[in-house]
Amino acid sequence: MTKKIAVLAGDGIGPEIIREALKVLDCLRHEFGVEVETEQGLVGGVAYDAKGHPLPQETLDLVNSADAVLLGAVGGPRWEALDYSVRPERGLLGLRAELNLFANLRPAMLHPQLVEASTLKPDVVSGLDLMIIRELTGGIYFGKPRGVRTLDSGERIGLNTLIYNESEIRRIATVAFDTAMKRNRQLCSVDKANVLECTELWRDVVTEVGKDYPEVILTHMYVDNAAMQLVRAPKQFDVMVTTNMFGDILSDCAAMLTGSIGMLPSASLDEHGKGMYEPIHGSAPDIAGKNLANPLATILSLGMLFRYSFNQGDIAQRIEQAVEKALDSGLRTADIYSEGCQRVSTEEMGNAVVSALRSQGN
Ligand code: IPM
Ligand code: MG
Repeated sequence: MTKKIAVLAGDGIGPEIIREALKVLDCLRHEFGVEVETEQGLVGGVAYDAKGHPLPQETLDLVNSADAVLLGAVGGPRWEALDYSVRPERGLLGLRAELNLFANLRPAMLHPQLVEASTLKPDVVSGLDLMIIRELTGGIYFGKPRGVRTLDSGERIGLNTLIYNESEIRRIATVAFDTAMKRNRQLCSVDKANVLECTELWRDVVTEVGKDYPEVILTHMYVDNAAMQLVRAPKQFDVMVTTNMFGDILSDCAAMLTGSIGMLPSASLDEHGKGMYEPIHGSAPDIAGKNLANPLATILSLGMLFRYSFNQGDIAQRIEQAVEKALDSGLRTADIYSEGCQRVSTEEMGNAVVSALRSQGN
């Protein structure tokens, strides 16, 4: 049966990078008989401009009717003055909450061709292959009470709540242990249990879940140390699992180890494998519309979509191999450029991946 992907390009560089991913999808259809249809919808600032809300009802209906969602990026300076409730980012958070996408998989892998693009020494990062699993629908991002209030004294207070219940911790821990079982069977759970009671519970529950996974070596690390270890000796990690906010921060850090945040895809999954796929970089308003952005994170996100939501690991592999081939041929967008390589545009990089895919068909 034909599967449906809801495509939400969003803001900034979103439309440019999504365009390249859609070219790849077209090629998969024509060359390899992949049966997928797409339908585009609005999210983020463009949705606010057109409909007055960053996540309009039409978009919700679309994503609910689709088998998976491919998203570009949201946000930009144009919308920064808006009230929080209608900021572009609320569109993204709304999608995560609405679709119950509690498990965010952010793989940080160093493509050997990009060793020189990392700001870290080659021996620190070469061979890096780590998976960050970020809880995505709870924690301080969603906890209540929240907001900015004025006290009787006239002073304003800003307030957010870090809250997790056991079942939320248990289900993300289970995803993390299952993932570790398919990899090198090492899981590091990151918390701040020395200060935050909420993450003391996190540590307890993760440890409990671990009893069902005797083959996985479980360790715990405080988040400040984890940030340091990520830049000191990142190869010590196989799978990391952590809260929503810590995962947001640590995954940006891990991304830079791989040379550029423009390379990292992500999958956000619900309990049944339905998912939303997006590059972990943002909308990069400074380079939007300039044909400079790196489309590879989005193209690799499409690969994850085939692997996790459509159970078509073979197609995911085709996409990954095509990306490798484009990199092998020395093509680099500005963010991953190093001397001796050929600097290319967003569109040229997309075309190179498509022609590498095509050549697999012959
Ligand atoms: C991410 C982004 C988002 C987040 C923003 C855009 C709301 O930084 O996906 O990492 O904080 O989750
Ligand atoms: Mg982030």
